[in-house]
Amino acid sequence: MDIESSLRDWDGETVIIQYDRATGAWIFVAIHSTRLGPAGGGTRMKPYPDVEAALQDALRLAAAMTYKFAVPGIPRGGGKAVIDVPTELDPQSRPALLRRYGELVRQLGGLFYTGPDVGTSSEDMDIVAETGAPYVFGRTVAAGGAGDSGPITALGVFAGLQVACEFLYGDASLQGRRVLVQGVGHVGGTLIQYLRAAGAEVLFNDIDDAAIRHFHNELGLPFVPSESVYETECDIFAPCALGGVLNSDTIPRLKCRAVAGGANNQLGSLEDAERLWARGILYAPDYVINVGGAMAIPGMEALGWSQAQAEKEVVQSVQKALRQVFAVAAAEGITTEAAARRIAEERLQAGT
Ligand code: PHE
Repeated sequence: MDIESSLRDWDGETVIIQYDRATGAWIFVAIHSTRLGPAGGGTRMKPYPDVEAALQDALRLAAAMTYKFAVPGIPRGGGKAVIDVPTELDPQSRPALLRRYGELVRQLGGLFYTGPDVGTSSEDMDIVAETGAPYVFGRTVAAGGAGDSGPITALGVFAGLQVACEFLYGDASLQGRRVLVQGVGHVGGTLIQYLRAAGAEVLFNDIDDAAIRHFHNELGLPFVPSESVYETECDIFAPCALGGVLNSDTIPRLKCRAVAGGANNQLGSLEDAERLWARGILYAPDYVINVGGAMAIPGMEALGWSQAQAEKEVVQSVQKALRQVFAVAAAEGITTEAAARRIAEERLQAGT
């Protein structure tokens, strides 16, 4: 889609665009909604096939943040930043780029709060915060932040998998359940630890050689090559990599009972929720179960929650929201995605 129609068709509020001349990177900050509070969302940093794709990703990810905060009633709006970097970006120019991005965040004066996301780390947030404070969450513990948001996001996703099992099998235990984790980064990698501790049979896919070596050679987990991910039989398919993996091409091939994972924007389009529904595959809406980092990191840094308190909040709120989503969907014969949207829209309408 071209930039003009992407922007015209989007239902959000504001997009800030900055071309970083020094590196050739494009920075997009998409503010989807400030209805419930100042917009918050991570900073995604990676090369995109073209500028349109980067903008499109920022717009969709920002909308997902709006729903993510609205479902559990967190007083924050939805936003997201995408830094589309050239493939050949010199690693030495990265810190300065992050500082210039931090300046932009500071100039926004609290319209947008950020944290880590795909392609950025807590160490990167330390650098962004040099110029972007006090609007930067998820710095390292050494720098006074709450650290990596991946593990606590994984904890919430794991709670979501338990609720899915409860709904499917009448038993929340993951003992003996076969779970395929796609993407073993900060969220997927930690999810695997929880799954193994719970006695699940874990299979995984990734495209990174070092990650494959670690999880396959060292931990002995079966590796599923990318070309067979969607055909592999399992109880739960857990997408924890990039978005758009549930679409008209992949859904007909799935051999799972449920999809529940940490990746943002798993559905290619809203019709894909109907496709899953028609196939009898239970879908845990991504923004309902991956709220952990976005909830806990600001909670610990701005509200003074302890780690234990943050974990409790995340687990309880994912459980409560997902049970409600499944119940509404079943009672009304609508998809779980439609049920989650409805819960979010009701809060957005009410403004609290
Ligand atoms: N990457 C997180 C998400 O997609 C966003 C986030 C993490 C925001 C940590 C603030 C702090 O939900």
